[in-house]
Amino acid sequence: MAEHGMDQIDAYIRDLFVPADPVLDAALHDMKAGGLPTIQVPPELGRLLAILVRTSGAQRILEIGTLGGYSAIWMARALPPDGHLLSLELDPHHADVARGNLARAGLAERVEIRVGAALELLPTLLAEPPFDMVFIDADKPSYPQYLDWALRLVRPRGLIVGDNTLRGGAVLDPADDGARAIDRFNRAAAANPRLDAIILPNRSGNDGMLIAVVREAA
Ligand code: SAH
Ligand code: DHB
Ligand code: MG
Repeated sequence: MAEHGMDQIDAYIRDLFVPADPVLDAALHDMKAGGLPTIQVPPELGRLLAILVRTSGAQRILEIGTLGGYSAIWMARALPPDGHLLSLELDPHHADVARGNLARAGLAERVEIRVGAALELLPTLLAEPPFDMVFIDADKPSYPQYLDWALRLVRPRGLIVGDNTLRGGAVLDPADDGARAIDRFNRAAAANPRLDAIILPNRSGNDGMLIAVVREAA
């Protein structure tokens, strides 16, 4: 059997399903120019997030970890015109770059970025209507607490999604502290009777996306 490098297969998927997109390319350019790290979701997972938004009919999305707004653009584009995405970001410079990128994408009305530590902002959201989907993608040690908050803030039948849930395989490494927290997050999601969850491994970065749906209240 012919050997195909991972890069060729990745390129095959990407070229087929996620063609060049000037707005996303400009966002990546401004992130780089602004000195932001290149840790946004890969295009394949941007597409997956958009598919989850559309299939679930989500109208209110919460994102934890904005960076330059790349994943926010993917999700917000998949919202209905009156939909809303709230994204929490610790770093004000990241938030500024993201706001510029979202404005260029024509999504400024649909997306709000709040600056602060997510664990301080999340309790204030209890006063707002529940979310249809929560996307967790900020600091990895806090993932177990973000799951607890997501469970409090998402409606029954809503979605909880977590990026980087395999950490390039480090999730199996007992010596990697960040990965220990991700492992606790994964185990808590798997064991929670309110959730049906799975990790979808992805080739880019040898990582994984956890996808969970919240069951109806018993
Ligand atoms: N979702 C983005 C990537 C997010 S990267 C995308 O795919 O495009 C993680 C982001 O979380 C970084 O911008 C980082 O500044 C932010 N972050 C780190 N700790 C945080 C915290 N305690 N609260 C909120 N955001 C945090
Ligand atoms: C890191 C964070 C991310 O959200 C990601 O997708 C990749 C890497 C990081 O902090 O190293
Ligand atoms: Mg991530």
